[in-house]
Amino acid sequence: MILIKSKKEIDFIRESNKIVAETLQLVKHNAKPGVTTLELDKMAEDWIRSNGGVPAFKGYKQYGTIDFPGTICASVDEEVVHGIPGNRILKEGEIFSVDIGVLKNGYYGDAALSIAIGEISEDKKLLMKVTEESLYKGIEVAVVGNRIGDIGAAVQQYVESFGFSVVRDLCGHGVGIKLHEDPQVHNFGKKGTGAIIKNGMTIAIEPMINMGTYKVEILGDGWTVVTADRKPSAHFEHSIAIFDGKTEILSVS
Ligand code: MF3
Ligand code: CO
Repeated sequence: MILIKSKKEIDFIRESNKIVAETLQLVKHNAKPGVTTLELDKMAEDWIRSNGGVPAFKGYKQYGTIDFPGTICASVDEEVVHGIPGNRILKEGEIFSVDIGVLKNGYYGDAALSIAIGEISEDKKLLMKVTEESLYKGIEVAVVGNRIGDIGAAVQQYVESFGFSVVRDLCGHGVGIKLHEDPQVHNFGKKGTGAIIKNGMTIAIEPMINMGTYKVEILGDGWTVVTADRKPSAHFEHSIAIFDGKTEILSVS
């Protein structure tokens, strides 16, 4: 069931997403060669808590594995999403993907971005650029009267025109009262399919785009999603609201 939010609820979801966006910028600013992902995780947690929020991913339960231990998901190069922050030291040339969720006043925000660590290769630059642009291609068609499937179709068409691939096993989602609500927002598919987009919907769109195969695997820690061919991946995510006939990106500072 897709939850329809009131203006007041969207105001709260915007507030949580603003903290998410600020925290992403803080991490981006500090993500340099020599820094560990755990140091960035601590910085993020402090910022969120000092703004009255709670890290939404910390303690997240997933059947059969440990609860997610971090504030941020920290995924490097072939790690697509859900990397666990730790002692890994960031190195020049890596793609560092950071995903952050915040809970405040009972409402969730969720967004992500990929960061270039120092100078990165031209093909990694293109992968990051195309992934970010594909998110905006998806947002562009997330308007009243269109369908949820239009989003994935727009993302997929754009990404594949560059020869990159769309991860199939993970998707975007409704967001706000829970971290993950209906509908599932796939990053691939057919135009004209899925639920009709209506005023009051709040959704997170999050293309995960691979340089090589779209296939992924999960590492032994039960969380880290990696590309099957170990080629690099990028991830960008925004939470958006559709209200009063307009589409607004909520995860901005
Ligand atoms: N943005 C990601 C998602 O929507 C982050 C979830 S991480 C988890 O799936 F720890 F909460 F699972
Ligand atoms: Co999400």
